[in-house]
Amino acid sequence: MRVFVILPAAGIGTRMAAAGAASPKQFLELGGQPILIHSLKAFAGVAAVTEILVAVRPQEMKRVHQQVAAAGLNGRVRVVEGGENRQGSVANALAALDCADDDIVLVHDAVRPLIDGHTIERTIVAIQKHGAAIVGVPAIDTIKQVERTADGAIITGTIPRELIVQAQTPQGATAARLRRAFAEANADGFSGTDEASVLERAGMEVAVVAGSPRNFKITQPGDLELAEFYLKH
Ligand code: C5P
Repeated sequence: MRVFVILPAAGIGTRMAAAGAASPKQFLELGGQPILIHSLKAFAGVAAVTEILVAVRPQEMKRVHQQVAAAGLNGRVRVVEGGENRQGSVANALAALDCADDDIVLVHDAVRPLIDGHTIERTIVAIQKHGAAIVGVPAIDTIKQVERTADGAIITGTIPRELIVQAQTPQGATAARLRRAFAEANADGFSGTDEASVLERAGMEVAVVAGSPRNFKITQPGDLELAEFYLKH
């Protein structure tokens, strides 16, 4: 069994761009190096990982090749073309992987740079046991179900907090499971915002491994400062 990693990094970071960021968020600097490189290094530091595929927009391939080389990661990292949305980027990378059915494929948002090696290893162990797993954190706030209205929302119910987990990444499965689930989603035109929704839809069991608030997704202005804080502490 080998472990392969896909890093979807082909987003344009709409929310950050609206706030004036010059680059998509995965290329912004955190502690002196691009966010994407932090994420890559976390996976490259796990001995079980054979190869990491980064999916980027065609116009960013050159820049990513240079950043990967500068970080000394050339040997284990391959840059491939991303897709129209996150699922499309993962599907492209999945098609480019040369792996066996029982190999493990992990998918990690490039914009979660503070993932740690121990959590990656625990996710791999959970996939070996259950066939598929994700990293998630318990909900801290009370969770409300709402109906959207023109000027906001009206509460329609309260979901018991103990039944809620907020999904992070990595998320993964054996290559055979992930490929079958993606093929079914593709055939039905289903589009999900993470791999688990695609796997669940195909009727597969997906385990949850405890994550941490540090592993948050850099999304909006202010998140970079928070990531800098976590990096220092
Ligand atoms: O859009 P969101 O912030 O959820 O993006 C999560 C990850 O998916 C990011 O790393 C982003 O670069 C990636 N993505 C992608 N291809 C797209 C859109 C997003 O690889 N077309």
